[in-house]
Amino acid sequence: MSRLIVVSNRVTPAGGAGEETVGGLAMALAAALRQYSGLWFGWSGKTVPIFTGALDLATISGVTTAVVDLEQIDLDEYYNGYANKTLWPLFHYRTDLAAYDRAYGAGYQRANRRFAETLAPLIRSDDLIWVHDYHLIPLARELRALGVANRIGFFLHVPWPAHQVFTTLPDHRALAAAMFDYDLVGFQTLEYQVAFEEYVLAEANGSQPSPDRLKAFGRTVQVGSFPIGIDAAEFAHLVTSSRARRIRDLMTAATVFRSLIVGVDRLDYSKGLEERFEGFERFLADNPDMRREVLMLQIAPVSRESVEAYQEIRGRLDALSGRINGEYADVDWNPFRYVNKNYRRDELAGVYGAARVGLVTPLRDGMNLVAKEFVAAQNPEDPGVLILSRFAGAARQMGEALLVNPNSPEEIADALKRALAMDRPERLHRWRALFDGVARNDVTAWHDAFVGALEGAGERAAALTG
Ligand code: F6P
Repeated sequence: MSRLIVVSNRVTPAGGAGEETVGGLAMALAAALRQYSGLWFGWSGKTVPIFTGALDLATISGVTTAVVDLEQIDLDEYYNGYANKTLWPLFHYRTDLAAYDRAYGAGYQRANRRFAETLAPLIRSDDLIWVHDYHLIPLARELRALGVANRIGFFLHVPWPAHQVFTTLPDHRALAAAMFDYDLVGFQTLEYQVAFEEYVLAEANGSQPSPDRLKAFGRTVQVGSFPIGIDAAEFAHLVTSSRARRIRDLMTAATVFRSLIVGVDRLDYSKGLEERFEGFERFLADNPDMRREVLMLQIAPVSRESVEAYQEIRGRLDALSGRINGEYADVDWNPFRYVNKNYRRDELAGVYGAARVGLVTPLRDGMNLVAKEFVAAQNPEDPGVLILSRFAGAARQMGEALLVNPNSPEEIADALKRALAMDRPERLHRWRALFDGVARNDVTAWHDAFVGALEGAGERAAALTG
């Protein structure tokens, strides 16, 4: 069996420091690597004065990791710059926030080249290489330039935007061309796959020789959609852990005679937090009789703090949360808790389990695994209701949630009212369908589908050239 080499910007192995608090992407990659023996390569999260390419190797819980330090200028131009000031806003339809700076583009190429040069000596001839996310789109091109002929797949965790949006990126052709150095490129949903195909056909003079193949820039790549899932078995285990039960009991005690509404998101402008807060505010304004019957808890750990747009949204959310409590709190009660702390995954499982409503309303989101974890944490006898943005990739698989337009505080307020009033038979009916989907389309199904397709993509390519 081939080794699997996973490459992602962040590397957070199971059992490693901070593992209890990591998000869905890292957990999904750790799960893939536990199944296929191999290596997880990426950035150490640290900087050094001069790049050396020295590798830090470790084996934790059966997963071998290899990480490399970058220079501060890489952090500024690659991670904070091109990845998070240019591509992140653009791929989430925030062209108003996207910064275009040639130094960022050059830093992005340089960091990818540095990653490729450090990784290449570790690659054996029959390894499968699986590259993740928008930080690393040019990695295959850099590896190919170093003579790496292995099968290389790329999976994009965030949306691929409509081609009218993608073309606002200066030098969009070079980025799109880099996708063709892979054997397989995977998207979260068919919508994003189609958006990529439309761009290639309309802007790159490409063709589609078969439904899953695209030809452009002198090369052919296989494309597909592979919706990511959670490790449902691991999460079921977390739900019954003593920490989860303790937090659930605490939250349940704090909300006696009240219903808990919960949101958990990285503090990011793509998550629709302002609109969500305003939706809750509107719900309170429109439903005076229900004000004392609810508590909304928003957990939003700060993220990417060096990027101005993140500092700005943090300021606005602080003001908004203060305004809501200022307007509606009483001496013995307040309606809104806003917490910027990062919680352990088992604690979050407990919080989700105590909630009557899960509020997951990103303005754009590749998938959103909080929606899936919320469903997995519910009491099967008396489950809560998921309110989900129609612009999260998860909405394509989770149609039994209450789907809302996250831009509309009014729709959010109406959905809250409906969720809180929903009778048990309807909650059970919706939850069972959602839970079946979450359990069936789990992280194992995701990585098996992608890795299987990558193995097949290599065989087909060999057959075509052989
Ligand atoms: O899911 C998108 C993503 O950018 C991941 O690639 C990343 O691990 C996660 O969000 C958290 O972002 P960051 O690594 O910038 O803290």
